Amino acid sequence: MLYILDTANIEDIKHCNEFYPLAGVTTNPSIISKEGKHFRETLKEIRHIIGEDKMLHVQTVQKTAEDMIEEAKLLKKECGGVFYIKIPIGEEGLKATMELKKLGIGVTMTTIFTPAQALIAAKAGASFVAPYVNRLDNIIGDGTNVVAEIVKQLDYYKLDCKVLAASFKNAEQVHKCSCVGCHSVTVSADILKALISHPMTDSALEAFEADRIKTYGQKTLLD
Ligand code: G3P
Repeated sequence: MLYILDTANIEDIKHCNEFYPLAGVTTNPSIISKEGKHFRETLKEIRHIIGEDKMLHVQTVQKTAEDMIEEAKLLKKECGGVFYIKIPIGEEGLKATMELKKLGIGVTMTTIFTPAQALIAAKAGASFVAPYVNRLDNIIGDGTNVVAEIVKQLDYYKLDCKVLAASFKNAEQVHKCSCVGCHSVTVSADILKALISHPMTDSALEAFEADRIKTYGQKTLLD
């Protein structure tokens, strides 16, 4: 499982990059505009924080295959490091993906809602396919099942493509995806935190601390 952060919030990226086994960051135009900062500067700042070896997935805003390819080349050059261009599924996007594959630029195909879309994206050469789990759950579309079917198909046809499940609203959705072999997820900082939190963990630690202080006092080996 690869854990990726779905945000352009610099403080969240700094924090999660320090405290979690983060594989990278994903953004889209809505995410970047939410921060209200300059697009290019934001991407540079994110790269500076995560370093060259972690993945940065950035969405194209172009409409034709030719423009998507040009933008992908430009963004890859500007962002440096391990880079993936996010391209929404569609005819122009598939055409761009096949060309970008030849050029060695990784593609994450987004706005995936069915296993059929994911399979064609993978056949076109996408490195990742991104199904939107919560948006499916919102319409009783069983996001986890869609993820499970995509995982099964990629495995069945031995395609070199990973599922990057996206659009999560709670930790339970992430957990369910991990139970069906989802390869990677992109989540908010709050969801990452929720994945490691448990009230019984907190009470166990409080009891350890109280017992230790009762027997040995406040000082630790480091004092
Ligand atoms: O990465 C895609 C994701 O950002 C979409 O999430 O919350 O807008 O459904 P959401």
